[in-house]
Amino acid sequence: MKKQNKILTILAIETSCDETSAAVIKVNEDIFEVAANVVSSQIDIHKAYGGVVPEVAAREHVKNIIPVIIESLEKAGVTSKDIDLIAVTAGPGLITSLIVGVESAKSLGVAWNKPVMPINHIYAHLAVNFLYFNLPPAPSFKPGRGNSRFPVMALIVSGGHTELVLVEDYNKFKKIGQTVDDAAGEAFDKVAKLLNLGYPGGPIVASEATKISNLKFKISNLSLPRPMIDSGDFNFSFSGLKTAVLYAVQKMTKQAIKKRTPEICHEFQAAVVEVLVRKTIKAASRFSAKTIFLAGGVAANKKLRQELESAARIQNLEFFVPQFQYCTDNAAMIGLAAYYLTQEKMPALDNWQNIKADPNWELE
Ligand code: KG4
Ligand code: ZN
Repeated sequence: MKKQNKILTILAIETSCDETSAAVIKVNEDIFEVAANVVSSQIDIHKAYGGVVPEVAAREHVKNIIPVIIESLEKAGVTSKDIDLIAVTAGPGLITSLIVGVESAKSLGVAWNKPVMPINHIYAHLAVNFLYFNLPPAPSFKPGRGNSRFPVMALIVSGGHTELVLVEDYNKFKKIGQTVDDAAGEAFDKVAKLLNLGYPGGPIVASEATKISNLKFKISNLSLPRPMIDSGDFNFSFSGLKTAVLYAVQKMTKQAIKKRTPEICHEFQAAVVEVLVRKTIKAASRFSAKTIFLAGGVAANKKLRQELESAARIQNLEFFVPQFQYCTDNAAMIGLAAYYLTQEKMPALDNWQNIKADPNWELE
């Protein structure tokens, strides 16, 4: 008789910043399926303020969380009875936003009598690359067995984070570097604000930068710094770069700023990408990594994807970056992270009592 594989069905919830998201992940020995990944974005609401307003974000999460969870269950064709585990982002992030997801997950855990697992948002960003790591995308994960593609050097770049993480196994990782001030995405957002381009800044700055063709256009007198590019450590700093843009535009007339916006964006993006790529490759070499992961919202940046991938190829390193919908905040990545962590230990049914939102949860 054919052995019936046990299916693990995970309901995942993400509310750490300005996306309310719920996903249903189904895993058995042969397949890993993102059965639903519903994302309700608040971008249009925060646009009016030029950035995320925590109080407003939390209120929106409260409004959206139940409809988003219901929609994800319906899309996946499952009911509460099918769920084996509820995974939720517990940090890092905005405290009032995190609380909405965490308390919702705990309430469902109690009501449905299911275990609840707190997930670190940064680990989830990098772990989403495991979707592609084991091709075909199956969780052929055997705890302790390792994988010839480890160690991995992961660069996580988002609106709140810029971190280099050494990943030695699916659930064994340690941070080796981070930004000492602004995150890379935050720098994109601030530069966009300076140039009156709107929010979120990353995609707009990137699109302005593409208006410059490297070959035809010689950038003459705008040269921005590459902060900390040769510092001996694996940390980053982006606030000085934003200030350098500020000083540059302060010397220009309004018309000049408008005319030179593509040029400014091009040089700014080049500076950020150069620092990120150089340091990631250096870290990979220092820790004898075989693979590079790129993750987080800024991983949606084409120039960064291209440059890091080609630098990785030159070093004979494998390179993985998630599809666009898994770069920015989404609950599928939370479910995926939970799957790998459950291989070590499934949470107890009553552990929800100890779960707390932690806005500063450090990736150890
Ligand atoms: O991971 P994410 O959705 O949220 C956080 O956890 O922060 O990342 C959002 C960040 C924003 O700062 C946004 O401007 C940036 O990612 N971003 C980009 C691009 N798309 C989004 N930055 C540069 N280039 C892009 N194409
Ligand atoms: Zn994120």
